[in-house]
Amino acid sequence: MWTSIHLDFILTQCATTTQQGINDMQTLQTTSLRVADNQLFILDQQALPQEKRWLDASTVEALVGHIHALRVRGAPLIGLSASLLLALLAESGKSRDELAVALETLRASRPTAVNLMNNLDRMKLALWQEAFVPALVAEALRLIDEDKRLCDAIASAGSALVKPGSRLLTHCNTGGLATAGVGTALGVIARAHQEGKVSNVWVDETRPLLQGGRLTAWELGELGVPYQLITDSMAASLMAKGQVDAVWVGADRIAANGDVANKIGTYSLAVLAKFHGIPFYVAAPQTTLDPDCPNGDAIPIEQRAASEVTGVAGSFGAVQWAPQEAQVYNPAFDVTPASLISGWVLDTGVVTPDEVAEGKFA
Ligand code: MRU
Repeated sequence: MWTSIHLDFILTQCATTTQQGINDMQTLQTTSLRVADNQLFILDQQALPQEKRWLDASTVEALVGHIHALRVRGAPLIGLSASLLLALLAESGKSRDELAVALETLRASRPTAVNLMNNLDRMKLALWQEAFVPALVAEALRLIDEDKRLCDAIASAGSALVKPGSRLLTHCNTGGLATAGVGTALGVIARAHQEGKVSNVWVDETRPLLQGGRLTAWELGELGVPYQLITDSMAASLMAKGQVDAVWVGADRIAANGDVANKIGTYSLAVLAKFHGIPFYVAAPQTTLDPDCPNGDAIPIEQRAASEVTGVAGSFGAVQWAPQEAQVYNPAFDVTPASLISGWVLDTGVVTPDEVAEGKFA
């Protein structure tokens, strides 16, 4: 019905040179981003897994619309897609002033994941170089290459923490769909599986937008990792029964004191893990660190549309179950305090609670 995502991994050929323009390359392809014929395409993450559909994202308006709708999603991928678009717009002849406006519009498209701001800060430096067109192209390609390497390094560092026979629990989607590489928490799980250490993955469906049920379940299936899908409310009883050996999640922003913003529902998992004495690991690249943000209270949390909670919509159509006028609270993320985290697994290695308390992220 659709090309295997695994095939896309194999076909992945991100730029390895910063000398070429994006358009000099036949194709730039990651699991969910593609550049071809001077256009940026995104794999529609709202249509998965029912349909594998590539959508044009070659204007700021189009990409911002895709980001708002979570057709492009995941902290690293949002930043990379915005950077690639800026590079393509530069190559298409946009002026520096036009690009500066585009950059600020893209920067405001989602507030919580700091990777977007970090990536665009680097693109902004390139924009102010005299030869800004090749500088922007080189920087965007460098960011893509870097993200792949960061994911690999996280997978290696994280897998070393996974014990043979592990039953791991994960939340939201942190895989190849959300990055240019193998993913963050899901990259760790995939690597640990390759090393024969994973006996089962419990996948939280992740209400309200079901990134776990739709995307993580699909990615794990493609990778051949054994998993069982659960509703978010099932994690507690699984932990009580001794069925979970560790929890692995990603991050949208890590504050200077180690507090972590991630998909809504992460905090409750961390509380549960602490209560049951289960290790709770956060996997993320350096681009997710925000040393200027003192703690979780200072992280802006995106509020989303009521319709995501009153019903559900996707490639299968739309269903509403709540009253039309239902009042809704729908934060996309929550903050997990550093005190509940057993280790921050970065591309540079595992950071311990003691190191965080000593100011490692400040
Ligand atoms: O709203 P989303 O789907 O973009 O939220 C994604 C998450 O919370 C992920 O855990 C995080 O971005 C890390 S992705 C490697």
